[in-house]
Parts: sequence; structure tokens; C-alpha cells
Amino acid sequence: MEVVILPGSKQIGKLAAAAIEELLRKKPEAVLGLATGSSPLPVYDELAARHSRGGLDFSRAHAFALDEYVGLEHGHPESYREVIRREFTSRVNIDETNVHTPDGAAEDLPAACRSYEDALQAAGGVDLQLLGVGTDGHIGFNEPGSSLASRTRIKSLIEQTRRDNARFFPGLAAVPHHVVTQGLGTIMEARHVVLVATGARKAPAVRDFVEGPVSAFCPASILQFHPHATILLDEAAASSLKLADFYRHTYEHKPAWQGL
Ligand code: F6R
Repeated sequence: MEVVILPGSKQIGKLAAAAIEELLRKKPEAVLGLATGSSPLPVYDELAARHSRGGLDFSRAHAFALDEYVGLEHGHPESYREVIRREFTSRVNIDETNVHTPDGAAEDLPAACRSYEDALQAAGGVDLQLLGVGTDGHIGFNEPGSSLASRTRIKSLIEQTRRDNARFFPGLAAVPHHVVTQGLGTIMEARHVVLVATGARKAPAVRDFVEGPVSAFCPASILQFHPHATILLDEAAASSLKLADFYRHTYEHKPAWQGL
């Protein structure tokens, strides 16, 4: 796990976007794993800017979202399919037929989850997965207690997550109770994971998953087993880390050829 502490979300957006740009230049048909929520927005802004400025080309890229609410009709503005379209894919030249989200409105949800896993496999797996982290340590919508080997499936949201996400809805009552999410086992198969966390509210979760024990109680801690996990933090999110100075020193002296 590489922990990189940066002054703010602008610098985080630039660094993550640079890694995605490098990937797409090497592999134009790369498969990107997309997250929703607030954390990845500076990355999407920077990618959109690089696309319009320098022609960063997404025309052959593929994208898979991490998760989707259950019970919102297709086209609902807060469905993750719409959020991904609004915040990112409509701002670059990715072919919309190459953008996939789990189908939270399917009649047969277990079958929809299986076909999502199949589609991921058929695309060759995720090259770079963007992640945020919940205040309870979730990634995707794998809440505490999720199996560390889980695959895409239906899950219940914990009340803390429903309250955290109520800002996107008219009120708490409108936040769905159920979601479909890639499992922790699914996420762990991505070749590179880049997790973004900003703000003091994330500091306890960051401390727990970076420096605490690996445990289903803190789902993001599974990333300690990932061979290529990059954790991008602002100063506030990093404020409870014991080894913050060591992470800073390591990044400052990192050989340039290593990249991210
Ligand atoms: C969203 C997702 C979630 C969020 C997490 C943090 O697709 O999978 O794990 O990344 O809830 O959300 P924000 O970034 O809004 O704090």
C-alpha cells in the first residue's frame, strides 16, 4: 500500500488523472473502474480538462461503475448510472455503450449481479479502479461485516451511510436501503486501485484501514493485501495516521521511474 499525502483535492485530482492518462496512452482500450460520491470529482474534473485541452482520448476505453442503488428507476438523477454520466462520461469521448453500471432496477437482481461479473471478466478485468472510502470504512458499498471474498451482490446500507448520502436526496427517507455492489473479492482483482479520501471526517476510517488490522469490520483494510494500492489523501484525511511523516518522506524520495 502506498500512501501519498498531498495539500488538497486539486493536487489529488491531478495525480490520479496523470496515472489514468499514462494508462490510456499505453493501453487505449483500458478498463477503468469508476466510483461515485464526492471523492473522485476532482479526478473527473481533471480528466475532462485534459480531454478538452490536450485531446486525452477515451474512444476505445471501457468503464465499470462500482455500485448502484436498488429501487431507483432507470434515469433517476441520483442513480449512479446518471451520476457517472453527468460527472464524467458525458464530458469525455468515451463510447456510452462501453460504460457499465450494475442494474439496480433488474427484476432478477442475483442474475443481474452475475451478468455484471461476467461482463467484467469478458472485458478483461479492471486496469485501474478509482475508490472512495465511507466514514465506516466501506469501499464500493461493502459495509462492515462484508465477506472479504465477496462478489457483486445485493447489500443493505448501514444507517451511517444513508445519513452520509442524504445530502444527494430530498431527505433521509428518500435514500434507498439496498444497493448492488461489486464485492471485495471483485475489487481486489483490479490491477491497480487508487483510493481518494479527503477531509477530517474520513480520518478515523483512513487510520483504521491503513494502519489497523485487516478485518471485515473495516472493509477497506482488505487493500493491505493488494499488490498495487495507491492511497491519495489530503492533510485532513491523513491527520490520524501514526506514520504520516514516513509516508511523506517515502513519496518525496521515490524514484521517478516508479510512477504511481
Ligand atoms: C461510491 C462508492 C462509495 C463512496 C464512499 C465515499 O460509488 O462506492 O464507496 O466512494 O461512500 O463517498 P464520498 O466520496 O461521497 O465521501
